[in-house]
Amino acid sequence: MNDYRPVPADRFTFGLWTVGWRGVNTFGEPVRPPLDGADAVRRLADLGASGVTFHDDDLIPPGSSDTDREAILKRFRAALEETGLTVPMATTNLFSHPVFRDGGFTSNSRDVRRYAIRKVIRNIDLAVSMGARTYVCWGGQDGAETEAGKNDAAALDRLREAFDILCGYVREQGYDLRFAIEPKPNEPRGDILLPTVGHALAFINELEHPEMVGVNPEVGHEQMAGLNFAHGVAQALWAGKLFHIDLNGQRGIKYDQDLRFGAGDVKEAFFLVDLLESAGYDGPRHFDFKTPRSEDMSGVWESASACMRNYLILREKAKAFRADPEVAEALAASRVPELSESTLGRGESLSDLLAEEIDLAEVGERGYHFERLDQLALDHLFGVR
Ligand code: GCO
Ligand code: MN
Ligand code: MN
Repeated sequence: MNDYRPVPADRFTFGLWTVGWRGVNTFGEPVRPPLDGADAVRRLADLGASGVTFHDDDLIPPGSSDTDREAILKRFRAALEETGLTVPMATTNLFSHPVFRDGGFTSNSRDVRRYAIRKVIRNIDLAVSMGARTYVCWGGQDGAETEAGKNDAAALDRLREAFDILCGYVREQGYDLRFAIEPKPNEPRGDILLPTVGHALAFINELEHPEMVGVNPEVGHEQMAGLNFAHGVAQALWAGKLFHIDLNGQRGIKYDQDLRFGAGDVKEAFFLVDLLESAGYDGPRHFDFKTPRSEDMSGVWESASACMRNYLILREKAKAFRADPEVAEALAASRVPELSESTLGRGESLSDLLAEEIDLAEVGERGYHFERLDQLALDHLFGVR
């Protein structure tokens, strides 16, 4: 029997802030002790992860002296070396400090925007020195609670300006690094700029170097907006923009739950894994989850392991679903392959299409048998096939 043990080739990665989350929330104090970055690296390697990611402030506490910074980095790099874990992605904390109360790149305060860009550039240098190829930008405080207080068009101009500056810097330095924008509809702001994958994709097309910028969709963030995550990811893949992904769990339209991957909407998790695997997505499977406050540290490691275990289980189920001859037959009965045929035939002209007749009465009676197909997926997921 498969014991679903992850191996580095599975490319599972974790943010330091995920296993390091101390359980502080709006109503409750921290419930768990601080976790040292080097210790997190060793523990994640034991569990079978292949890499770690971090915000500048996760690794180097704000206010650290240059000597402290060097000592922390030395310990961290030694742990990476010892375990073979990589750092494929890094990001910046542009949300915790009070100066970011009105955002980073889009704060109404010009001095804050300038500071935000400096903070990102400093961490880009570090990220690149550790081998990172992707730089995530989540503008959690870039939003508003009021309409009158934020000029949206100006905010989008400033956001575009920030990305143009950052892309220019990366090109000038000759770094092999791409940016991935992480959309989220709300929380911590009442409404956040670039709330969904679709908004982010449209924004990227307005940049000076759109080829350097993609998206980092997070399961729960699209689901907080009531959207179908697999559809959002499919469009990002279609646009060649799935540069990274944040996997976790969410149950419906409510606060950002950041549950372990697989908890929450299991069926959508199944179709997401099916999509990533069948589309040949070869980036990291990055978990961005928060272990509930009810748990102590043993529960945190339990939860981290379960993220990977659930991915591997779903991967196996999706593979079996695709290999099932009855599924192939049901797909054909649902005309799924027919959608991949171009609507106009090769060499056909529009006048051929215009001259054609359709028997509306007959075609109007056509059923699509999606219910049978969908139930086959559920049967695989439930383990009864
Ligand atoms: C969230 C976000 C964050 C970001 C991360 C990167 O849960 O709201 O996902 O976790 O991914 O901070 O900046
Ligand atoms: Mn989240
Ligand atoms: Mn995230």
